[in-house]
Amino acid sequence: MAPEIRRSGVQLSPGAYFNFKGDKMNLIFLGPPGVGKGTIAKEVVKEKNIPQISTGDLLRAAVKKGSELGIKAKGYMDSGKLVPDDLVIDLLKKRIKKDDCQEGFILDGFPRTIPQAESLEGEAKIDKTMNFKALNETIIQRLSGRRTCKKCNAIFHITNIPPKVEGICDKCGGELFQRDDDKPDAIKKRLEVYQKQTAPLIDFYKEKGILADIDTEQPIPGIVKDTLAAIG
Ligand code: AP5
Repeated sequence: MAPEIRRSGVQLSPGAYFNFKGDKMNLIFLGPPGVGKGTIAKEVVKEKNIPQISTGDLLRAAVKKGSELGIKAKGYMDSGKLVPDDLVIDLLKKRIKKDDCQEGFILDGFPRTIPQAESLEGEAKIDKTMNFKALNETIIQRLSGRRTCKKCNAIFHITNIPPKVEGICDKCGGELFQRDDDKPDAIKKRLEVYQKQTAPLIDFYKEKGILADIDTEQPIPGIVKDTLAAIG
């Protein structure tokens, strides 16, 4: 079922604007596959100077390296299923202990299940969760045309955000590729998995009063503006 969209941009749950603890800013970017979490996170990083932590990128790096984690994760990822909680939780806990997370972080694609969200509670106080929304047909169009840089992970789209030279990253000159899980069968599975296992997190964070809905049915600058306004 298509998620509900508010055309007016940001919709905050009660209490969603609040003071951060000191300057630290721990954010979650939540939303279906292909809604634009990674694209917007890269823009927010420039403004807020905190790292984007994408569990998808970390897992893809492990697959590329051929590590034990990568070997275990590959089959799940290619078929559009979630990697088991214990593997991802362990990966994430190690990552957020690194020095660059002292001022905060943006979690892009974590948590994806209630057990992941519960495990995070013991590790870090989350200040705000952005719930990125789009219609299903938009998501499918975005995923089908996505191209990612092999070298720097920059994200493009063959028609929405094309690179200046086809197949080449504008930022570093690296080769652009289509992800294995951006094929029709895997996209369908990822959307089903999202509805079943990840969408319950919307209520989880809404009940805590830290959820902000962001409408992504608009050009990127507007989404970035709405996101920064919601972060405060
Ligand atoms: P992951 O890499 O996290 O994939 P995802 O959540 O499916 O999200 P995507 O990266 O596909 O999309 P996005 O929302 O970042 O969109 P993007 O900015 O690229 O995870 C991959 C796999 O790893 C999972 O399936 C799972 O197996 C595993 N995994 C990861 N985390 C896990 C976890 N916590 N637990 C268990 N397993 C885990 O944008 C999409 C496209 O749209 C781009 O082409 C972009 O250019 C374009 N676009 C974006 N915004 C706009 C806009 N406003 N207008 C027009 N085009 C736009």
